[in-house]
Amino acid sequence: MRVLLTGGAGNIGRVTLGRLLEAGHEVTVLDAAPLPEGLGTASIVADLTQPFALDALPQPPDAIVHLAAIPNPFVATWDRVLAVNMLATFNVLRYAAEWGVRRVVFGSSESASGWGIHGRFYRPDYLPIDEKHRDLPSEVYSYSKSFGDQLCAGYSREHGLTTLALRYTYVVYEPHYAGFLGGIRAEGRRDARGATYAWIDVRDVAEAIALALVADVPAGSHEAFYLTAHDQYGTVSTGDLARRNWPEDPQVPLDETYYGDEPFRSFFDIRKAEALLGWTPAWDLGRLLHERP
Ligand SMILES: NC(=O)c1ccc[n+]([C@@H]2O[C@H](COP(=O)([O-])OP(=O)(O)OC[C@H]3O[C@@H](n4cnc5c(N)ncnc54)[C@H](O)[C@@H]3O)[C@@H](O)[C@H]2O)c1
Repeated sequence: MRVLLTGGAGNIGRVTLGRLLEAGHEVTVLDAAPLPEGLGTASIVADLTQPFALDALPQPPDAIVHLAAIPNPFVATWDRVLAVNMLATFNVLRYAAEWGVRRVVFGSSESASGWGIHGRFYRPDYLPIDEKHRDLPSEVYSYSKSFGDQLCAGYSREHGLTTLALRYTYVVYEPHYAGFLGGIRAEGRRDARGATYAWIDVRDVAEAIALALVADVPAGSHEAFYLTAHDQYGTVSTGDLARRNWPEDPQVPLDETYYGDEPFRSFFDIRKAEALLGWTPAWDLGRLLHERP
């Protein structure tokens, strides 16, 4: 399949590129930053906030994986986060609809739900948070991702484009493994108010993207998926985290079929991704700690 990968020069993008090439796709990277030499693929340097940045492509791809964005609210001003994330996503979807691209896989975020690492800690209606739970975004980045998902749904509804929004949690990748695992190995509590301690290994994100490109979903449909490692990295169970965060009665209802045997299971529900994408996370804390002693 001919795939256009936006944001392919970024941290998640480079690992995704490797996985898509391994799967046999013909990948072109489009990024505002140049792709490092030797990654074995065509690349275009372009700014997706420019209205017709994509129209210069020699031919439309079969599918677009859209990862280009400002990836959190701290590395740019609020107006830049909104402008880049919302305009770039609109631009990709507009191009896809006009040029007959069959599928768009959108790099969304758990932040779209409102319970990202920089969320406001509203009380969830229930746990785990799944794709039917309402979104309660509270800052620019989460607004931009929630809006991106709505745009995807709108383009499916209006133009028959197949869109899959992957709401992955905090991603751990090189060169951050050492810091992440160092924090986990250190003594001390990780039970801060509002924290979900949800995380995911970048290789599991790349795998989900590869599966989303070929997943058997009805043409023209929109689907969102939460993606997270099985376990959260806090020091108290997910039920205890919820009780500390929201102690008032009635307590946040917990799905015992999800947490019964795995009390440290994530705040987010991956059962839809398992069922529709055939995806399951290969990396949990035990495996990652073992891999990097
Ligand atoms: N890192 C995380 O924990 C995390 C979690 C959930 C979702 N996400 C999402 O995953 C995607 C990739 O994140 P990442 O961590 O690899 O970020 P990154 O900053 O490493 O990569 C983003 C890439 O987008 C490119 N880009 C930015 N603005 C652009 C523009 N106007 N035009 C073209 N390219 C542009 C950048 O040059 C960069 O290469 C983002 O959409 C991010 O919001 C990240």
